[in-house]
Amino acid sequence: MYKEISINYKNNLNHQDISTIKQFNNSFDENEVKIDYIDNKIKIMLKEIDINKLKNIIKEPSNNTNKDIYDDILKSIEGVKSYGLKGNKRKYVDYNKERKVTNRKEKELKRNQYYYAKDNQFSKTINSLPEKYTNKIIVGDSKQILSNIPDNSIDIIFTSPPYNFGLDYANNQDDEHWEDYFEKLFSIFKECIRVLKYGGRIIVNVQPLFSDYVPSHHLISNFFIKEKLIWKGEILWEKNNYNCKYTAWGSWKSPSNPYLKYTWEFIEVFCKGEMKKVGNKDDISISADEFKKWVVAKWSIAPERNMKKYDHPAMFPEELVDRVLKLFSYEGDIVLDPFNGVGTTTAVAKKLNRNYMGIDISSEYCKIAQERIKNIKGEVGLFADE
Ligand SMILES: C[S@@+](CC[C@H](N)C(=O)[O-])C[C@H]1O[C@@H](n2cnc3c(N)ncnc32)[C@H](O)[C@@H]1O
Repeated sequence: MYKEISINYKNNLNHQDISTIKQFNNSFDENEVKIDYIDNKIKIMLKEIDINKLKNIIKEPSNNTNKDIYDDILKSIEGVKSYGLKGNKRKYVDYNKERKVTNRKEKELKRNQYYYAKDNQFSKTINSLPEKYTNKIIVGDSKQILSNIPDNSIDIIFTSPPYNFGLDYANNQDDEHWEDYFEKLFSIFKECIRVLKYGGRIIVNVQPLFSDYVPSHHLISNFFIKEKLIWKGEILWEKNNYNCKYTAWGSWKSPSNPYLKYTWEFIEVFCKGEMKKVGNKDDISISADEFKKWVVAKWSIAPERNMKKYDHPAMFPEELVDRVLKLFSYEGDIVLDPFNGVGTTTAVAKKLNRNYMGIDISSEYCKIAQERIKNIKGEVGLFADE
């Protein structure tokens, strides 16, 4: 059995085209791939292929080769996105046979997907966010500010809370006993859940303090799960940051106490009530290419480089917010960041035609966040690979 791909041309194939197809067939075993042709059509019959071998052949074509035909073949094969890997080869047929689960649906029902969130009592009523909070940067303690916000009025929350690393923020202690830290954080997250609409998302960027052996990303996830949100998934934000220690003192190159290094942070994604977020097709801002790349849940993005300029010790980069908002929200949605800092979330929300509300306990940070908003002149396409 082969996976078949057809290519139709306007005109019938000429001698050079046919010679190219023959060369192709001579280069590969017919148990891997072969090409049939007739009139203006070619049919690629594909089982498995070493795609780099094909690329090398195309790079150094022999005489009487029609490069366009080769390019079309490569493009068509690369267009097939589901395949398995076997050594250097992509396997297009039977690649998941061993792993095929029979009666998948019934088994899924029996297991009861996200069982922990099924008996939630969330209301589906939607309320509007009062104008005095819409598109505003607000100074204050999030717990107190959020207590004035109606239930079910926010579409998406994206935030990075203070991590209790001992950083020098303008206004708050960042070195509390862990129990006090989590108690305070969770009381704010409870408010976040309340103000989130049914079907809304709360997405939290977490960097655990590994050297304290406190897995904040697990504790935070566990909190949301207990509050009956659906854990949609986890994105690894790869910062390629190798700047950390290797071992406990005196245990270099020894199993006695090696220190694990982390070059990434976590982005935990939760949904309230259901995973599907209804929206208008015209309000989608993600491109097909971005979607294809970003659903692969490991994002390589450099850390923010402008922290000095904005005078904030723990910003996340705009590109991170750009991806999160394009992937998980629609234009016109209301985006909340309850730990808005110098306003990276709110600035990007504005650039992407979302409504926003940003809260931070520091008036200095809020002033900068406001300035950033003022300086936006409808720019889109911020990043090099867009
Ligand atoms: C990790 S920073 C967020 C930085 C932000 N993502 C950015 O790019 O600018 C956490 C922020 O939470 C703020 N914060 C701490 N406790 C707060 C509270 N109770 N209410 C509101 N903001 C708070 C701090 O002032 C700090 O700016």
